[in-house]
Amino acid sequence: MTLEIRRLTPDDADALFAVRVRALATDPVAFTAEQSQEEALGVPFFRERLGQPLDQAATFGAWEDGALVGMVGLFRPDRPKGWHKVMVWGMWVAPEARQHGVGRGLLAAALAFARAMPDCARVKLSVNTGQLAAVRLYQSMGFEVTGTEPDALRWEGVSYDEHHMERVL
Ligand SMILES: CC(C)(COP(=O)(O)OP(=O)(O)OC[C@H]1O[C@@H](n2cnc3c(N)ncnc32)[C@H](O)[C@@H]1OP(=O)(O)O)[C@@H](O)C(=O)NCCC(=O)NCCS
Repeated sequence: MTLEIRRLTPDDADALFAVRVRALATDPVAFTAEQSQEEALGVPFFRERLGQPLDQAATFGAWEDGALVGMVGLFRPDRPKGWHKVMVWGMWVAPEARQHGVGRGLLAAALAFARAMPDCARVKLSVNTGQLAAVRLYQSMGFEVTGTEPDALRWEGVSYDEHHMERVL
């Protein structure tokens, strides 16, 4: 099996849309976004997102034998006072591709990109406290919990807390 991790371009919008819909269906409590809402946004939304300027945003994909099996995104606020921060979104690896380094490879690519972004000082993210694989992955790559938000997310009548985590570059 060959693994390739690379930055996605607008030409990858169809594959990213399919992965994102699958991620939201498979792991709904891992994300604040909802499957039906993103399905309604459709491929054009993702094509536009993948075309954002590279000093503002980038999305990385993991390909195994030509299939997109994982993703992670970065974006930064466009206001000058928050320009030093980059946010991680959408980290997900397909269940059949987990636990052989794909998530670590995606996060390493995102961190390398963030380090090269002008004036970027901190990488931040929020993660459901119950997503233990994700929390461990982030901790193992230098992220620390800066606070825990109770009742950050409700899904099907259940309340979930979120850790806010950051890595100083
Ligand atoms: C979190 C996730 C992306 C990890 O992807 P992955 O490809 O399986 O991760 P890797 O194989 O690169 O593992 C990297 C590290 O993550 C942690 N990890 C991964 N799977 C784990 C598991 N089942 N239990 C505990 N820790 C785990 C370990 O620290 C691991 O390092 P190690 O192999 O040296 O022990 C994947 O489990 C996933 O998509 N989860 C659901 C979505 C989610 O929670 N996203 C986070 C949104 S904020």
